[in-house]
Amino acid sequence: MSEILPPLAQDTSAVLVHDIGNYIQIAMSAMRLMSRDDRLAGSTALGAMLAQAEDSLDRAGALIRLSRHGPLIEEETELGNCLTEMATLLRYATGPSVTVRLHTGLVPRVRISRVGLQNVLLNLAINARDAMPAGGILTISALLADGPSTPEVEIVVADTGTGMSGETLARAFEPRFSTKPAGGGMGLAGARQFIEAAGGRIGIDSSPGHGTAVTLRLPATA
Ligand SMILES: Nc1ncnc2c1ncn2[C@@H]1O[C@H](COP(=O)(O)OP(=O)(O)O)[C@@H](O)[C@H]1O
Ligand SMILES: [Mg+2]
Repeated sequence: MSEILPPLAQDTSAVLVHDIGNYIQIAMSAMRLMSRDDRLAGSTALGAMLAQAEDSLDRAGALIRLSRHGPLIEEETELGNCLTEMATLLRYATGPSVTVRLHTGLVPRVRISRVGLQNVLLNLAINARDAMPAGGILTISALLADGPSTPEVEIVVADTGTGMSGETLARAFEPRFSTKPAGGGMGLAGARQFIEAAGGRIGIDSSPGHGTAVTLRLPATA
């Protein structure tokens, strides 16, 4: 007598992460081969683009590895470096019609996963780009702020885009909520989860026609 087995209980997102990881590795190997190709030697512009693509895949790979091997590892992170390191990536991600401005003064370090924070900032920058189809300005600034009890670092990611309606703003952090045709709706939900796990808070200030500012507050290290 044949028996019909129930489908294997699988964590689909873990499987997905695993499979994406494989493709990232393949793409990385292809990039490495390309970067060694003699035909590239004549073009610094192509070399720079390839380096950027490699850097992005590298980051994606790091996130996948971290998500497989437990929580992101927290480290003392200096925000000035952390942002400068991302400048080129942010410019590529937002495209030529968006002006990217980064402002960091002397701010204390924060204890957080550097790759994780950079991933949040990239997600916020991509949201900003999507909200500025005709171009605009993306400003990311970090400053020291007074927290409820101890000093905090405030990071503001602001755009001059469409802004959000009250209804969108109310649901923006909801997992899988998206107003975009192909949107996954996990960017802000993931950002909130990550920032809160690091002991911080995240908030949005937005109204139609007035752009959007996402504020992250993180405890400063003593
Ligand atoms: N900077 C922004 N400007 C305007 N609307 C935004 C911005 N960031 C997020 N949103 C709104 O919040 C929704 C959820 O964002 P997110 O969680 O990143 O998912 P996704 O980008 O996949 O739609 C977006 O679909 C959009 O409606
Ligand atoms: Mg998004």
